[in-house]
Amino acid sequence: MKPKVYVTRHLPEAAWNELAPACDVTGWNEEYPPPYEVMVENMANKEGLICLLTDTIDADLMDAAPNLKVISQVAVGFDNIDIAAATERGIAVGNTPGVLTEATADFAFALLMAAARRVVEASDYVRAGQWRTWGLTLLLGQEVHGATLGIVGLGRIGEAMAKRARGFDMKVLYHNKGRRPEAETELGVEYRPFDDLLQESDYISLHVSLTPETRGLIDSRALSLMKPTAILVNTARGPVVDPEALYEALLSGRIAAAALDVTDPEPLPAGHRLLTQPNLIVAPHIASATVTSRTLMAQMAVRNCLAGLRGEPLPFPAY
Ligand code: GLV
Repeated sequence: MKPKVYVTRHLPEAAWNELAPACDVTGWNEEYPPPYEVMVENMANKEGLICLLTDTIDADLMDAAPNLKVISQVAVGFDNIDIAAATERGIAVGNTPGVLTEATADFAFALLMAAARRVVEASDYVRAGQWRTWGLTLLLGQEVHGATLGIVGLGRIGEAMAKRARGFDMKVLYHNKGRRPEAETELGVEYRPFDDLLQESDYISLHVSLTPETRGLIDSRALSLMKPTAILVNTARGPVVDPEALYEALLSGRIAAAALDVTDPEPLPAGHRLLTQPNLIVAPHIASATVTSRTLMAQMAVRNCLAGLRGEPLPFPAY
């Protein structure tokens, strides 16, 4: 009998074609995530779960699936999964690092550039019929070339961001929970204590995982240390930034602008007061959204799932 697997969203065809012949798959094919109760009901007889970062995978859900061997997340971040509960129950957890690194760093840099040079505002200006002439002071932005970038979290994506910044002759500072001397040599980045990085950087880009330590890391105190010309970029996880503190900082001009691919909450409701700020760019959590990255992510997740079902070590374990 084929092992039973629950998949919480439609997978790209290449991944589906690897999964479907090997397993008895029940899938949720809607655009929106399955309600928690639907997942619980479906998990009763499942040995494998392929899920997304929008799904809450907690101890109760695991207890509703006594045969569960593997939880395979189609994402690099896995803060939606209770890892301690999975470990206690002997359930393997996989994720999809690496294949989204470059796409995510590309998007983080695109956000940085867009905020610095007011690309979204400029486009809105033209569409609104406001473009009357070439203006010497029209939509002035900030230099990117030669500026200082502060990277918070020098993991794979932080490193890829540093490489892009070096191409723009930026000075690159980083803060990380462990200092990384080899990266300092290889990438030409300089370590700074957190507060120093905030004070010295023109651009601050977040690349940390969401943990109890990083939740609310960018709060009003952190924002108050930034330059008034600073631009904050978040492609990590929404709750790393306190949204109320960010709103106040943008409103009061405490910092110049922010560009977010991730928000708290997610999705950010259309009426959220952050969206009243013209110096804010928000994208709907799409930094890894290229055809190549998302296909490779789904294929990695399927491989993790199949290995877990066979009781083998996962090729891409989450921890
Ligand atoms: C996306 O945010 C991911 O964690 O892969």
